[in-house]
Amino acid sequence: MAYHILVHLLLAASILTPTFGRLCTCPSQLRGNAYDYIIVGAGTAGNVIAARLAESGHNDILVLEAGVSEEGVPASQVPLMAPTLTPSTLDLPSICYNAHASGSDTPYDWNYTVVPQTHLNGRTFPVARGRILGGSSSVNYMVHHYGSSEDYDRLARITGDPGWAWRNMRRYIDRHEKFVPPADGHDATGQYIPSLHSTRGVLPKSLPGFSHAIDSKVIATTQELSAEFPFNPDTGGGNVLGLGWAQSSIGGGTRSSSATTYLSSVINRRNVDVLVNAQVTKLVHTGTICGKPSFRGVQFASGPRAPTTNVFARKEVILSAGSFGTPQILQLSGIGDRTELTSKSITTIVNNPSVGKNMSDHALLPNNYLVRGESLDNLLRDPVAFGIALDQWQASKTGPLANGISNHLGFFRLPNNSSIFATTPDPASGPTASHWEMLVSNFWINPSLPRPDTGSYLSLTVALISPTSRGTIKLASKDPFQAPLIDPNFLATDFDRYTMRESVRAIKRFAAANAWSDYIVEPVGNLAAQTDEGIDAYVRSVSSTILHPVGTASMSPRNAAWGVVDPELRLKGVEGVRIVDASVWPFAPNAHTQAPVYLVAERAASIIRGY
Ligand SMILES: Cc1cc2nc3c(=O)[nH]c(=O)nc-3n(C[C@H](O)[C@H](O)[C@H](O)COP(=O)(O)OP(=O)(O)OC[C@H]3O[C@@H](n4cnc5c(N)ncnc54)[C@H](O)[C@@H]3O)c2cc1C
Ligand SMILES: *[C@@H]1O[C@H](CO)[C@@H](O)[C@H](O)[C@H]1NC(C)=O
Ligand SMILES: *[C@@H]1O[C@H](CO)[C@@H](O)[C@H](O)[C@H]1NC(C)=O
Ligand SMILES: *[C@@H]1O[C@H](CO)[C@@H](O)[C@H](O)[C@H]1NC(C)=O
Ligand SMILES: *[C@@H]1O[C@H](CO)[C@@H](O)[C@H](O)[C@H]1NC(C)=O
Repeated sequence: MAYHILVHLLLAASILTPTFGRLCTCPSQLRGNAYDYIIVGAGTAGNVIAARLAESGHNDILVLEAGVSEEGVPASQVPLMAPTLTPSTLDLPSICYNAHASGSDTPYDWNYTVVPQTHLNGRTFPVARGRILGGSSSVNYMVHHYGSSEDYDRLARITGDPGWAWRNMRRYIDRHEKFVPPADGHDATGQYIPSLHSTRGVLPKSLPGFSHAIDSKVIATTQELSAEFPFNPDTGGGNVLGLGWAQSSIGGGTRSSSATTYLSSVINRRNVDVLVNAQVTKLVHTGTICGKPSFRGVQFASGPRAPTTNVFARKEVILSAGSFGTPQILQLSGIGDRTELTSKSITTIVNNPSVGKNMSDHALLPNNYLVRGESLDNLLRDPVAFGIALDQWQASKTGPLANGISNHLGFFRLPNNSSIFATTPDPASGPTASHWEMLVSNFWINPSLPRPDTGSYLSLTVALISPTSRGTIKLASKDPFQAPLIDPNFLATDFDRYTMRESVRAIKRFAAANAWSDYIVEPVGNLAAQTDEGIDAYVRSVSSTILHPVGTASMSPRNAAWGVVDPELRLKGVEGVRIVDASVWPFAPNAHTQAPVYLVAERAASIIRGY
């Protein structure tokens, strides 16, 4: 019966989703081989650039995307089905999986894994990236907020461009977001500050659309332990510290991605072609202008044995292939560290050792408690219950599946007198920025351990927000269809290990509040550890990634000896190429990264259009 519901949903989705006008599936459908702008990657940032350049009507635009259309992919619409789109172990009932099994590779993902992590017991694990129109915005968990004002001020300081400062960047919120009522229509008074938000932008976002049994306990804890876990009414003004109600890229109970918003607003225009199944294999060197190599060409193919096609940009190529795709394409094009490129038999055209270096990511630490009382675990185990919830979603876009994975999240600092500050300068973006985050979920979340067959759980998931470890993206070979070597180098520093250890102690203080006394039974597994050594061993054994890699094609000042793009996002040492995606953020912001990427892309579009 539940299976029947899923099939029904699939059919309904394929009938209801509007068909794209200029969605090309084959290179022969393109209008030509030259466009004003070629955008590589129809992801989070790429679709913002496509929409903003197309809406002027003056530019002729081609968007190349390696993945497939999101049409007829119901899990990209039903918010709580997101975990089925990527190799996640937040497993849902097997009826939710199509051709693939829970936790394994999926058709909408790049199926990457990290190299063995030295400081995590040599473990390796998947690192999801969307391979579908909308990119990671079509497969992510939809947490949507901008981070600390101090992140943007720090970006301005690092790059020497005051245009990246919060005072300027917050203007772009106005055109980006469209705040809409939550899916269940509840009165959201006190759960956010309306004056910090916009109702005029393109991307519908909302507060939680389904209330959980624990919501009142979370709020009670912010009152009971207000010194350490104060209530934060809204991070939208750039103040992240404290714990409050989550905001998500969900509108009317359905996911908002860059494909359903920015791209769909321009896809039917005559001046936009979008080609799926087109994996860019390199930029094409098109000569020299003013002493600099020009790369106004792009080569792509649909697969390893398929023929390649070249297309050319009259104005610019915009690389928006994400934190892994962008440095990989640069390296395949001969732009990178000469020693590394030579070792893969690639001729260096621009020697830039910063390409693929300085990667930062937020490490994730799952923490689970066995609880008595209500949770979503049974719904996520039982195909019949899930089928009923799916039916409700389909009928009214409401219910548990209309919601994201957490109704509350918060950002916190280590105490000022922490011993680590004797040896490590504070790496936070500023005194009101955070060191770690906690997400509260009313069910089992643990990418490293499958949900137990019985029991109800509370998850207090930690993310390391201001890491000092830096990782790398390198080519495994010169074959563009071979996955790059991805090494986030998690917890390589004393600061990162210290912060994880102290975050475990902090979430235990949170869980020890009276508000939880009749609900929490006990911590699961080695979360119970008390000593430094015991907690460190626990952290090493279960940590992975919350999937926010940045920094692999970093912005830096115009004349800096390091960095990959200048403050206007032009590729250094090259003519005709810009980079607009998560890779240009020099450090990980105090946020889940989609909204910071959207803001960077909005400003980039303004820079390119010259207003
Ligand atoms: C499972 C998951 C959950 C997440 N949860 C959240 C969350 O809840 N909230 C949040 O804020 N952030 C979240 N993130 C992170 C956030 O989604 C990303 O930081 C952000 O979307 C990155 O945007 P981007 O434009 O840099 O890259 P992407 O959106 O990944 O876009 C890159 C695009 O380029 C395409 N591409 C790559 N290489 C090539 C090539 N060679 N040729 C052609 N096309 C190519 C890709 O297929 C993709 O479409 C999550 C990420 C994942 C994967
Ligand atoms: C990822 O794995 C799925 C399932 O095996 C497959 O369909 C898909 O093509 C793979 N993606 C890539 C980029 O290899
Ligand atoms: C990494 O970033 C720092 C600044 O944060 C810079 O000083 C350093 O040169 C960068 N390293 C590389 C290889 O780009
Ligand atoms: C930090 O200060 C608090 C009280 O202000 C104290 O309880 C704690 O022991 C101090 N911690 C360290 C590491 O000195
Ligand atoms: C900790 O230090 C920061 C930065 O110096 C300061 O702004 C803040 O008020 C201090 N906090 C406490 C609790 O002393």
